[in-house]
Amino acid sequence: MIRAYTITSGKGGVGKTTLTVNLGVSLALLGRKTVILDADIGMANMALILGMDDIPVTLHEVLAGKGDIEDAIYDGPGGVKVVPSGISLQGFQQADPDKLRDVMHKLVDKCEYLLIDAPSGISKEGVVPLSVADEVILVVNPELASMADALKTKILCEVMGGRVYGAILNRAGLEHTEIRSQSVEDVLGVRVIDVVPEDANVRRAAAYKSPCVLKYPQTDASRVFKRIAAQISGIEYRDTGSEQKTESFVDRLARSVFR
Ligand SMILES: Nc1ncnc2c1ncn2[C@@H]1O[C@H](COP(=O)(O)OP(=O)(O)OP(=O)(O)O)[C@@H](O)[C@H]1O
Ligand SMILES: [Mg+2]
Repeated sequence: MIRAYTITSGKGGVGKTTLTVNLGVSLALLGRKTVILDADIGMANMALILGMDDIPVTLHEVLAGKGDIEDAIYDGPGGVKVVPSGISLQGFQQADPDKLRDVMHKLVDKCEYLLIDAPSGISKEGVVPLSVADEVILVVNPELASMADALKTKILCEVMGGRVYGAILNRAGLEHTEIRSQSVEDVLGVRVIDVVPEDANVRRAAAYKSPCVLKYPQTDASRVFKRIAAQISGIEYRDTGSEQKTESFVDRLARSVFR
């Protein structure tokens, strides 16, 4: 049975697309049939980030009733399937976000996991993915504005009948703030699924138009992306990298107390 996750935030630029792509590829590498869908139909950039040029049919055409979803599913890196959105303003204007529900119904028998990259803000095209997914993942950065906006999105999600799976604290360490998992859990009232560190290799990989988990599989952020994917798919995470750190009981205890 398919599980659909909407990856959303509230505030823009916090790492939704980065997470969608890297989690999607990580799930695919675990052998899970996974589709990542760019529902940020106004400011789409998943295709750009993945270096997927020259795409004849995108989600824009499908939502405009001019194309079929089967023709908008493309092979992405690491075995993940990608439904990109177009980048033209005209395409955005013609796309009907309400059709996203039909799109999802048609994707049901095509994959085990569907990850939906939602737009930031609380526009109509942002609201639909909150209600259609099984679970919603809130992405936050360690800064107050990001947490405040995520809280609004969480409330909106609940009003829409959506269910929040948890939050991911991304770019931890970036702002030199003291905001940690516990503060995120206190403010948002949801559990923190995991903490992705600020990692320059994430941006470096993006510059190569390659997912970080493929370009730099052993970098700190990639190992967390893979850990989250394992958690989502119910697999025990094994860190097999050369930089593997064996965590002692005392380390684990300290991590759970201080994070
Ligand atoms: N853990 C990280 N470490 C370092 N840089 C990161 C990390 N996560 C994301 N970034 C960088 O932050 C920027 C924004 O990321 P991304 O585009 O994924 O955010 P977004 O939430 O999808 O933005 P938008 O709201 O505009 O769609 C990108 O340059 C990305 O490479
Ligand atoms: Mg994005």
